[in-house]
Amino acid sequence: MTRSPELRGEMVRLRAIESRDAQRLWEALQDAEGMRQTGTTESFTRTQIDQWAATIADRLGRYDWAITHGAVRDGQLVSDELIGEIVLNELDDVARSANLRLQMLPDYRGRGYGREAIWEVLRFAFDGVRIDGEREPGPGLHRVSLQVLSINPRAKALYESLGFREEGRLRDAHRDGDGWADAVVMSILEDEFRAAAGA
Ligand SMILES: CC(C)(COP(=O)(O)OP(=O)(O)OC[C@H]1O[C@@H](n2cnc3c(N)ncnc32)[C@H](O)[C@@H]1OP(=O)(O)O)[C@@H](O)C(=O)NCCC(=O)NCCS
Repeated sequence: MTRSPELRGEMVRLRAIESRDAQRLWEALQDAEGMRQTGTTESFTRTQIDQWAATIADRLGRYDWAITHGAVRDGQLVSDELIGEIVLNELDDVARSANLRLQMLPDYRGRGYGREAIWEVLRFAFDGVRIDGEREPGPGLHRVSLQVLSINPRAKALYESLGFREEGRLRDAHRDGDGWADAVVMSILEDEFRAAAGA
């Protein structure tokens, strides 16, 4: 089982997805621009989303997190509501690689939450996590890759600024309205992450 451990940044807290996140995940699917930018063409029923939220945390071969606010007031979290989701999927134990995907809800974009969420997931992927002062190993990955559409310059610029490098393009791999978009393949390797983390 790869139940996602809690990861804490300064602004965000990542926790396992639970049944109660279904409504927000459903809202994310109604966001036409987000669907376009992620290249999501499949449609889902509300029942499928309810099932997904209830079971995804126990699915093997992937880590799914709800991105929530990290702010604490009087020792209590200010909010535990999902404001985005982030996943490490396609885990390959032999190559020590995985794929990254994320989406923030529309009201929570452009505020630095996505950047921090990715950074915390990369830290977990390559270096593990501290739980009660003890270092837990995590998946010990060597490579994290992703695909970003050429119509999504914001996401691509963000990935580059975090240390991801472009590896190539799947030309016209996605339909975009009446036209097409390239899928840009990007990755970051463990030594590149450590260099970025030390910088
Ligand atoms: C892409 C996404 C996950 C990024 O998360 P976010 O919280 O909005 O991103 P942040 O606020 O942390 O950072 C955005 C960065 O992009 C920059 N940016 C914003 N709009 C931009 C644009 N049109 N072109 C280039 N850069 C842009 C911002 O200046 C910021 O850079 P900075 O941190 O150096 O200031 C989020 O916007 C999102 O969910 N978008 C819709 C779904 C999506 O595209 N998912 C990714 C699919 S690959």
